[in-house]
Amino acid sequence: MPSDTLPSTVAVVGAGTMGHGLALQFARHGAGVTLVDHRESNLDDARAGVDDALDFLAAEGLLDANPAAVRAHIDYTLDTSAAVASVDLVVETVSEDLSVKQRVFAELAAAAPDDAVLATNTSGIPITDIAAAVPGAADRVVGCHWWNPPYLLPTVEVVRGETTSDETVDRTAAFVEAVNREPIRVERDVPGFVWNRIQFAVLRECTHLVSEGVASLADVERAVRDGYALRTAVVGPFETADLAGLDLFRTIAADLYPHLSDADEPGPLFDERLAAGRGGVEDGAGFHEYDASPVDVIRRRDERVAAIRRALD
Ligand SMILES: NC(=O)c1ccc[n+]([C@@H]2O[C@H](COP(=O)([O-])OP(=O)(O)OC[C@H]3O[C@@H](n4cnc5c(N)ncnc54)[C@H](O)[C@@H]3O)[C@@H](O)[C@H]2O)c1
Repeated sequence: MPSDTLPSTVAVVGAGTMGHGLALQFARHGAGVTLVDHRESNLDDARAGVDDALDFLAAEGLLDANPAAVRAHIDYTLDTSAAVASVDLVVETVSEDLSVKQRVFAELAAAAPDDAVLATNTSGIPITDIAAAVPGAADRVVGCHWWNPPYLLPTVEVVRGETTSDETVDRTAAFVEAVNREPIRVERDVPGFVWNRIQFAVLRECTHLVSEGVASLADVERAVRDGYALRTAVVGPFETADLAGLDLFRTIAADLYPHLSDADEPGPLFDERLAAGRGGVEDGAGFHEYDASPVDVIRRRDERVAAIRRALD
């Protein structure tokens, strides 16, 4: 897209796990970014997070910008109103809590220019509910849902709320492209948007297969990671059906759908582990056991994702 459509000034509100990664992704593609938080210590952590991420990208051969120039494109502040006063786009990425987000959006609508896009990185709160806090600006509120880490994963959901204007959706999608990402347009404000619906449909079937004793947890994990997902990195579900033939896939779908899980509850596989204090990598155990620290486990994941991206590129 032409560079004159790249918002030259962007504010990212919330400098946590996602905020620092978003600031980095925008800055490495030339946007001037102001990163906002309400705690100074979080801004310090965000600066360190940006440095770590730049080191990671450089080590993986994925950094095509000068790290010093990227750092120079990011300002850090505690003052939300001042940060958004002359921006083209705000991406809110504070805690996943409707009342917190609604308070932040009220401040954004009051302080940002009248034509600024007001985007939220919410994972699951309806965009329409967030927009309800700012009736005068509801047409400019849009979902812009990134995946972690934002400087590594190529797709971003652009989610239309019930009041979002076409112009807001188009400007947001154009911005996503300008920072070298692929917009996935979600045309209805449905729970889970697109990626999480798919992710949890797969997880529901995986837990169902293990609970029913069809296969072990380790084998189901491998069937997805080393089989289905590996090939899906190259051909998506619709192209897979094309390659097999729609006649065949239609027949299998008709036979199989009645047998797939339609459970409404996450079930005992989760509940037993949670009751035993096995909440995941932070506890050293969840569905699996972990010897390494959470940071190291996540670093290892990101190194593998980077390797797959390099191979596919
Ligand atoms: N972590 C993920 O993998 C992920 C992925 C996609 C989307 N999200 C979404 O992104 C958002 C942020 O998630 P996160 O994991 O980065 O959370 P986080 O807790 O790491 O960061 C949130 C930050 O927002 C700050 N904050 C809270 N209220 C604020 C306010 N009023 N003004 C300024 N700053 C404020 C907090 O101090 C904190 O630094 C959530 O909506 C989450 O659902 C998270």
